[in-house]
Amino acid sequence: MTTSRRQFLGMTAALALATGGGAVSLLTGFGRPRQTGKLLHSDLPLPPRFEVPLPHLPVARPDRPGHYLLTQTERDVEILPGRSSRIWGYDGRFPGPTIHADRDRRVTVTVRNELPVPTVTHLHGGHTAPAYDGYPTDLVLPAGFDPAGRMTGRTARTERDHVYELDQRAATLWYHDHTMDFTGPNVYRGLAGMFVVRDREERALPLPDGDRDVELVVCDRAFDADAQLHYPALSQEQHHPGVEDAYAGGVLGDVVLVNGAPWPVMEVSTVRYRLRFLNASNARRYDLRPDPEPADGAAFVQVGTDGGLLAAPYPRDSLTLAPAERADVVLDFSGYPVGTTVVLRNTFGSGSTSEVMAFRVTRREPDDSAVPEVLSEPGFLSRADAVQTREFVFQLRRPTGSATAGHGQDASLVWMVNGRPFDPAYDEATPREGDVEVWRFLTDVHHPVHVHLTHFQVLARNGRSAPDSDQGWKDTVDLIPGESCEVLVRFTGHRGRTVLHCHNLEHEDMAMMANVRVT
Ligand code: C2O
Ligand code: CU
Repeated sequence: MTTSRRQFLGMTAALALATGGGAVSLLTGFGRPRQTGKLLHSDLPLPPRFEVPLPHLPVARPDRPGHYLLTQTERDVEILPGRSSRIWGYDGRFPGPTIHADRDRRVTVTVRNELPVPTVTHLHGGHTAPAYDGYPTDLVLPAGFDPAGRMTGRTARTERDHVYELDQRAATLWYHDHTMDFTGPNVYRGLAGMFVVRDREERALPLPDGDRDVELVVCDRAFDADAQLHYPALSQEQHHPGVEDAYAGGVLGDVVLVNGAPWPVMEVSTVRYRLRFLNASNARRYDLRPDPEPADGAAFVQVGTDGGLLAAPYPRDSLTLAPAERADVVLDFSGYPVGTTVVLRNTFGSGSTSEVMAFRVTRREPDDSAVPEVLSEPGFLSRADAVQTREFVFQLRRPTGSATAGHGQDASLVWMVNGRPFDPAYDEATPREGDVEVWRFLTDVHHPVHVHLTHFQVLARNGRSAPDSDQGWKDTVDLIPGESCEVLVRFTGHRGRTVLHCHNLEHEDMAMMANVRVT
């Protein structure tokens, strides 16, 4: 699919406000805006909160050593109590099965597509060879299409192998759809799952483990009157990309799901739990806080982020998570009396989205876990070694020059990187393998900026050194309106083409992506 074949729809007067400096219609929330996007209301009564038990995520089982087969299928599942919703899931699950892997042990994942649309699968946070990265045009076609996407009645390439060497630190990664122009609708229907990498450094720590090491996939959705996932696509059959005008800034749902269940409740005992949060939402940002707060100590002790363990534990009272970000935290329930319900609130939400899930303290138990003062040796880069500075401006703009060809003079606004809508044939940046570089990101509205194939360190925001909440190896950085952010980045081990993009999936699908070619 080339840029000229894209249809940039949905970018009309409402969006023009965003370039006028006000960005009013795109930003929701009171006072200082917390979100870019628009709330889609469900057309049915919302289910009661804190009644559905937190689902345990299914665990992927290798079909032979080091090999997993994930089959993308359509399935009717119960998300809202007593109702059935059609999802697209890896192995028919939403979220998909979690893959548990070890550092430096190669894993091959074959993704088979039994859906009615082409798909691409990306391991987010993977230090992956570009051939297996899930580039947006590396399509796995549905059965019955030829490689040009025409119906043939014959079976074309309906599966693809992804080889992950996993020469990377222990970290909480995730896999999800990355199809050119259609990542938003595909992930919304359920194409996402966790991928946890462990290593010796991490295993030696006395952190909570076993069933006290819990993955929590948080996302928001809206449902129609038939309990079907409601996404405001211009074409539900994917004949062309884009969402209705009003949602071009991002789709926000009014139902918060954790591990695929609405506002679930998890029974806990009076011990520490390691909670691995992933924000798998298309556009929603969260600020999580337990209520009541623990009597003493911080609400959370953060031990890890996108790229694995921090150097030292970081106590914090709230946890801000933009789309695609992960936070690995320890929450200690020992200070709560048995019988307490601890509600996990979202201070960036309002109404139904101001709560996420609950923990019910049901029993007293001994705890032999601990959070050590030193967690890991992250081996950071040094600014002094940077050989190059690049700038990436994330902005809603009117395409100029050849990018508008075929769209007439009425070409509307598009989400762009450096004034260009995504063009697979154009390399925006060509870093050399092994070089340390400073990348500066600039924004108009909220943009969670993600770089594939590597991790980076956040150096500075708005010219000041980055706050402690930015520490550790990141692959996605949350930028608020008007912010500038500098990161230190280095690509190692692989050369070739990959991407950086905004992880607000509506922005990504509407072209806020650029090639990075490692040379
Ligand atoms: Cu989480 Cu390019 O993706
Ligand atoms: Cu964006």
